[in-house]
Amino acid sequence: MLVSSKKILDKANKGHYAVGAFNTNNLEITQAIIEAAIDLKAPVIIQTSEGAISYAGLEFLLAINKVASQAKVPVAIHLDHGKDLKLIKKCIDAGYTSVMYDGSSLPFAKNVSNTKKVVAWAHKKGVSVEAEIGALAGKEDFVSVSAKEASFTDPDQALDFVKKTKCDVLAIAIGTAHGALKFKGACHLDFKRLKQIKTKVKMPLVLHGASGVPGELVQMANKYGAKLGDTKGVPDSQIRQAILGGINKINTDTDLRIAFTAALRKTLKDNPAEFDPRKILGPAKELMKKVIMQRIRVFGAVNKG
Ligand code: G3H
Ligand code: 13P
Ligand code: ZN
Repeated sequence: MLVSSKKILDKANKGHYAVGAFNTNNLEITQAIIEAAIDLKAPVIIQTSEGAISYAGLEFLLAINKVASQAKVPVAIHLDHGKDLKLIKKCIDAGYTSVMYDGSSLPFAKNVSNTKKVVAWAHKKGVSVEAEIGALAGKEDFVSVSAKEASFTDPDQALDFVKKTKCDVLAIAIGTAHGALKFKGACHLDFKRLKQIKTKVKMPLVLHGASGVPGELVQMANKYGAKLGDTKGVPDSQIRQAILGGINKINTDTDLRIAFTAALRKTLKDNPAEFDPRKILGPAKELMKKVIMQRIRVFGAVNKG
């Protein structure tokens, strides 16, 4: 059933678990997400970035996600990293149940005023709003820890931001990064900061850039011809610790991309005579589903739907 993110995330906040938010760009990814959620009776968030919308088309992607959301588990359809205010409004009007306004790279006052605009549009329609304060390192945009700390979320600023904007869900920066190379050395998320933020804002918090980048998937992709280079993700142990510290929404895209690539390369290599797209893409869907199920288990969301 289609619900707002606020509904499932408030429940997760009370129950001390996290809901998986998985990025989709096409039919097979959406199928993998929804089948995993159904098999585990878990709530789930299907999210599309602005890039996904320009790749697949808003109506087309939304239609697939809406069909998926008729499943008997709670599903939110969410806009990930919305920056274009016109597109955000369009998503709210078109039937998204949740949107993110990402003003994290803007000056504080501008982030506040734009987030307030989005909250006003969204709340009128029962759509929930995720906003972000602090900034993650971008893809391949690896910076030293000291430079990164400069953009970690400040707990007092987070409280001020939430009071001013009335957003429903808050994305924070505690040391993760988007993409397949997140850290140079070991992963050390800033759990002390997470605790300070949660103590102040109490609301559902989001961890972006949270993919685990499993070694076996990377090795499988590379074995069949990929050149994924240096990769490093967030270990499951730190994901569990982040949930204990108050994270309730965990974003995953990179792990699905790697699983898709690994399975696709293997299928093509093993079956050179095959040219039926269903037989080529089916194994990719199955491997993504396995990865999603594994993550939902780590998030503690099994049977929470
Ligand atoms: O956080 C970003 C997501 O991985 C989406 O990436 O903008 O390439 O679709 P994208
Ligand atoms: P990953 O790149 O770690 O999968 O993060 C995805 C994300 O944060 C989407 O918003
Ligand atoms: Zn993100």
